[in-house]
Amino acid sequence: MTNEKVIEKAIADLEQDELAAELQAGRALISQLSAIDRLLHIYDPQNDTVAKAATALMKTVEELLKGGSIEVRLWRDCIFINSERIRCDVSNFSSYKHMLAKARALKIEKILIDAGVTVNEMMRFVACLADFEAESITGTDLAREIAKLGITHITILPAKETDEDLEDLGIKPPTPRERARRAFFNALATAREVLMAPTHRAAVSLRKARRAVQAAADALLEDESSVLALTAIKDHDEYTFTHSVNVCILSLAIGQRLGLHRTWQSRLGLAAMMHDVGKIAIPPAILNKIGVLDVDEWKAIRNHTLMGVRYLSRIGVPNEQALHSMIVAFQHHLNLDLSGYPKVPGETPIDLFSRIVRIADTFDAMTTERPYRNKVYSPHDAMRYLVDQAGTKFDPILVKAFANALGLFPVGTILRLNTGEAGIVVRRSDLSNDPDRAVVRLIADAKGNPIQEERYIDLGVIDKASGEFVYSVVDALSCNDAGINPRDYLLS
Ligand SMILES: [Fe+2]
Ligand SMILES: [Fe+2]
Repeated sequence: MTNEKVIEKAIADLEQDELAAELQAGRALISQLSAIDRLLHIYDPQNDTVAKAATALMKTVEELLKGGSIEVRLWRDCIFINSERIRCDVSNFSSYKHMLAKARALKIEKILIDAGVTVNEMMRFVACLADFEAESITGTDLAREIAKLGITHITILPAKETDEDLEDLGIKPPTPRERARRAFFNALATAREVLMAPTHRAAVSLRKARRAVQAAADALLEDESSVLALTAIKDHDEYTFTHSVNVCILSLAIGQRLGLHRTWQSRLGLAAMMHDVGKIAIPPAILNKIGVLDVDEWKAIRNHTLMGVRYLSRIGVPNEQALHSMIVAFQHHLNLDLSGYPKVPGETPIDLFSRIVRIADTFDAMTTERPYRNKVYSPHDAMRYLVDQAGTKFDPILVKAFANALGLFPVGTILRLNTGEAGIVVRRSDLSNDPDRAVVRLIADAKGNPIQEERYIDLGVIDKASGEFVYSVVDALSCNDAGINPRDYLLS
């Protein structure tokens, strides 16, 4: 078996074991929540039977929290724990139906439980669900009640209106593209919050960031092209935040190609978002210095890997998620051949997530203008660089997955076509399985006259007579070289 196959098998085995344990704990959680809810209709919360049930419930909650946080989704006739469906069978039928009926009565769809939750909070929460059941209360009101009670580690999300409900109300439901944008900008706002948070608030912001990462991963599944297009617009906000979100999304695109389980995707996305957190310790005068950095300034920049580990180790309980983020913060400038920094002994294994983030980070950095870098690469040239260095600096399988997700002409590349027209790549073509066939929005005609209206050319179109592609690429440029702001074409 090749090394890659061994790694793939090890990941698959690990995921299988984790998944089985998570599903088992998920079933226990539903039964225990339902049992306590029923007990609270008979006994008061101080009763011994209730206290015993609460202890068992907390054990299950702690088991599930090893994955970072818990999301219980009660949707139609199904219950999901962290997006994995819990089966309803003869052994759990009664508790399963009880919890679904409860969610329906209270109009709630999700219960989110975060690390740090106490047994007291958990019990006040369950008591609150028991108290309000008889009243006609909306999910939103209940969420407010829970916040008022000072329950900070448990959140409920009201049942969402379906697209049909919204249409009945005369509201146009958001398109996948709009949802993708919402997820991206939400991730951007969260990155700003988490990277700017003082240490004592960081744990709270991190929980939010985890949800934003999950939403970005979902959006990527739903409409990959729209989400990836947003990473090509480099002037959304300050560099650090935009870069963090771009690296997060590009890493998730690789994870998606590898078929990583949702829990692992979430871990990867958060580690990627936090990869440069150590840079907050670097003085802005060095970070934004125009021109060549001296030896000490480079030393300060390189030190961000270690500072990242130090920061992440201070913000809370070192669970698996935090440990994974620390590894990525430490290793993300290490190449496959162990060149790069920080210096590590030979034979040091580089974590899968670090190898993924190394690729996403390099690509985003190469394609973004920075004061100390004199060249901005076109996305096409950056992709070619990654492909050229695959096997030396970068993991070849992961580069393949990345090239498959973005194509050889990634979104934001300016192409000159065989027809003489020029355009910007906006997405992959649906007409061809070849990832290098893109859809181009025209920016200039064959004579070089600018084109204002929206006109697109699909490079996947095949000439019926010859069986050949109609269009071919003559030249690829960066937006910088072409004097184009991608925002004008990718956001409209
Ligand atoms: Fe970095
Ligand atoms: Fe970076």
